[in-house]
Order: sequence, then C-alpha cells, then structure tokens
Amino acid sequence: MSNSSNRLIIFDTTLRDGEQSPGASMTRDEKVRIARQLERLRVDVIEAGFAAASPGDFESIKAIATAVRESTICSLSRANDRDIARAAEALAPAERKRIHTFIATSKLHMEAKLRMLPEQVLVQARNAVRFARQHTDDVEFSPEDGSRSDEDFLCRVLEGVIEEGATTINFPDTVGYAVPELFGETIRRLRERIPNSDKAVWSVHCHNDLGLAVANSLAGVMIGGARQIECTINGLGERAGNTALEEVVMALRTRGGYYNLECGIDTTQIVAASKMVSQITGFAVQPNKAVVGANAFAHASGIHQDGMLKSRETYEIMRAEDVGWTATKIVLGKLSGRNAFKQRLQELGIDLASEAEVNAAFARFKELADRKADIFDEDILALVSDEQQSQEREFYRFVALEQRSASGEMPTAKVVFSIDGEEHVSEGRGDGPVDATVNAIEGEVGSGAELVLFSVNAISTGTQSQGEVTMRLSRDGRIVNGVGADPDIIVASAKAYLSALNKLHSKIERVNPQP
Ligand code: KIV
Ligand code: ZN
Repeated sequence: MSNSSNRLIIFDTTLRDGEQSPGASMTRDEKVRIARQLERLRVDVIEAGFAAASPGDFESIKAIATAVRESTICSLSRANDRDIARAAEALAPAERKRIHTFIATSKLHMEAKLRMLPEQVLVQARNAVRFARQHTDDVEFSPEDGSRSDEDFLCRVLEGVIEEGATTINFPDTVGYAVPELFGETIRRLRERIPNSDKAVWSVHCHNDLGLAVANSLAGVMIGGARQIECTINGLGERAGNTALEEVVMALRTRGGYYNLECGIDTTQIVAASKMVSQITGFAVQPNKAVVGANAFAHASGIHQDGMLKSRETYEIMRAEDVGWTATKIVLGKLSGRNAFKQRLQELGIDLASEAEVNAAFARFKELADRKADIFDEDILALVSDEQQSQEREFYRFVALEQRSASGEMPTAKVVFSIDGEEHVSEGRGDGPVDATVNAIEGEVGSGAELVLFSVNAISTGTQSQGEVTMRLSRDGRIVNGVGADPDIIVASAKAYLSALNKLHSKIERVNPQP
C-alpha cells in the first residue's frame, strides 16, 4: 500500500501498549477474547503483545495467532536477535504476521537509558530489521521517542532501516509531547528528505499526555501523509493512554468529506469492544468519553431534547446505533431456557470453548436470575467474564458473605472463601461494609498489598443493577486490577478483592519494553 492511497490501516495495540497501563494486565484467555472482538471490528493489525516480555505474553501471542485468521498479528520486540526470534516463534501459527522492532533515537534516551552512541543505535536498528526480515516480509520499525529525536539522525536511521527491508515506519510520540501541526510537519519533512521513504508505509503512534493523541494522529495523517494509525480501545495505555481507536475512526467517518480516507472498521462493533476491554481490565469508561461514554448520546437539556424530537441532526452528528449502542433491553429472565441463553451468547459474540463451559455459564445465569428479575446483555457479559476468571485463577475463590451494618454501629463482615481449594471463614470489622469485608479477607490472607483504587459502577440501569467493582492492589512494585460483579455490591467487592489477590499470586513477571 502506498502513502498516497486513501486507505488507512488501523493498528490496534490494546493488548500490548494498552496492557502497559498499571493494573491492566490480562490473562491469555482474556486476550484471546479481546483479539476475537478486534477481528470482528475488522482491525487490520492486532499487536498481540511483546513475546520476549514473559512466558505469559509469548503464550498469549501464540494463542491469538492461532485463533485469529482475518487480521495481521504482530509482536513487539526490542532491536535484538533474541527478542526477534522469540516474536517470530510466537507468531508462527499466524496467517499473516508482522514483527515490530524498536530502539530509542532521542539523545536523552540513547544517553540515559540505552547508554549507547548514536552510531551504535544506527547499526543495531539496521541489524534488527535485517534479522526480522529473515522471519517475515512484514516488518515495522519505530524510533522510540521519535518526536524528541534529532531530525538529521532520524533521517539516517530511517533510511537505513528501509534499506534493510522495513515495510512500515512508525513515528512515535512516546511521551505525548507533540502538538498537531509540528508533529504532522515533522513527518512530512522526514518523508521528503529520506530518499527511499516511499518504500514504506508511514505510521503514527501517539500518547495522550497533553490530551492531543487523536489530534496528533490525524495531523500525522493529513499533514504528514501517514497511512497507519496505532491506537487502543478506550484510549487505554500507559499514563494518559494512547490514541483512542473509536475517536479516530468516528472522526474519519463523520468528517469523511474532509479526510477522504477509508478504513475497514465495522463501527457497529465499537461499543461491544469498549465494554469488553473495560470489563476485563477494570478500567471504567468515563461517562462523558467521546463515542463510548454512557452519556455520549444522552441529551439532558430541554432545548436539546426538543430539537432532537423535531430533527435528530439538530444535536447529533453520529447515530448511536452506528457505533453499536442498542437501547438497553431485557433479554432474558428466570424462565429462559438453555437454548435461549446459548443463542444470546452467540449474538453477543461470545464463543465458549466447550459445552461444559456453556453449562457452567448457564448455571450462573440461573443463579443470577433467581436474585434479579431482568437480565441484560451487560449482566451476561459480566457473568461470562466472572466464570472465565474463576476457571483460570482459582487459588482464592469466593464462596459466601454475611455482613451487618446499622447506624451508629461498626460494620462487620464474615467472608467464606477458599484458598487453594480449602475453605476458610474469616471475620472483620471496618469503617464501612467494604472495609470490614476487605479486613476479613486480609485477616486470613495477610497479603500486605496496598489498595490503591476502589471503584463501583452500575452495569445496567436502575437500583436492581449489578454492581461492578474494581480493586487495584499494589505490592513490591507490581500493580494488579481485580474485577467482580454481583447485585450485592459488598459481594462484588469481595470478589474483586479476591480476583486481584489471584493476580498477585500468579508469579508471572513481565519485562516492560520501555523500562
Ligand atoms: O510509545 C512508544 O514509543 C511505543 C513504541 C514501542 C512504539 O510504544
Ligand atoms: Zn507507546
């Protein structure tokens, strides 16, 4: 594909850069679920992880390379033979594979982080791309901290890696320092100055530290001539996150007359992808978030409502249904049978691996329907997620909870849970019912972890909604998120806390690509 074409490649890095957000780490099966949804969304490239980071990352990439057939699967690798060989091995089952190798090119990063001379960086970048090309003819190169790198040096490095066979040149604004016009112009100048620049597709990768990631990405495309945007669902990513996929895609579509660019995204899958990523990572979507926030299509003011009733376009530039919002509707209830449940799973794009898994999820559904009259799509998504979580990480498992609070009394909680299959009962007191519950669990487990975030969200509408709780724990420099859902938010809190403890318990350590 050439840079003058009007086809824009959407490269999703939710599973790699998105996962670098503190606490957003996902299990292999969670990543495969998200990758399948990204395939339904029709993203062109899925960056599935960083194969050399940990055995868990390696296995996840391999599983995604096996499960996904339509999108190209990519692994990140530092610019060394070991990382690249590991990426190639993980990607072996993929129908289409890409190796994405990178090395920092800014003075600051080369001196302070890599402790390398520019000439050494240049040689290492060239060697890495040459070696990667031995494994696939789809090789992407990124000069890390590109937006703060010296332009003359960038020209030498990028010309060199294109000569070695890099097919995509990705220009990262690693620290979110760029501003749109300057960023776009830098890319335009680089493309003009580098003699072989037309042999590669140019790409942008922006971080959102100044809230400019989407604007910078679009400037990179319009001014710079880039034809690939790297982005994540919900803008998930380190610090303030990455370019939000839903925002760039809907800007391109809504303002198609101006951008005159096409991408292959099926926009009706956007909301499902957003909900899935939020639920799996425990990163709630802010209500006023563009496109996927709960209020993105809500009109509260009387003047707006009046205008909308007369003509929808008065205050709405996109249609909610075009991005996959559906009116929240009761889908199932106590009397619904297994077949209706299974069909709803299929409609929601959930393919459970075996009949045994469908049965387990159906049993949970029945249990929930006994306690809650109306079951919404969101409830089904949460219970499937809960079921998969408990199958994957069973070291700590919630069994039951008894809690008491009354005005003027200190709340108490009695939690029954299993540790490695053995049932324990523990009691605790606290400032509030959630505090008492966490104290009860900690009294038995003694994890020593620090609770750094506690949030509660209603999954659907009304007071009968299930509460979805996220608990973020930190211990010895590791940060993990646990998520739990239940109509009783104290039970949801206990589940979330145990889920976070399970993640801390799993010993798999990762290497951060940008230490
Ligand atoms: O932000 C960044 O520089 C990256 C690179 C690895 C592309 O994520
Ligand atoms: Zn990044």
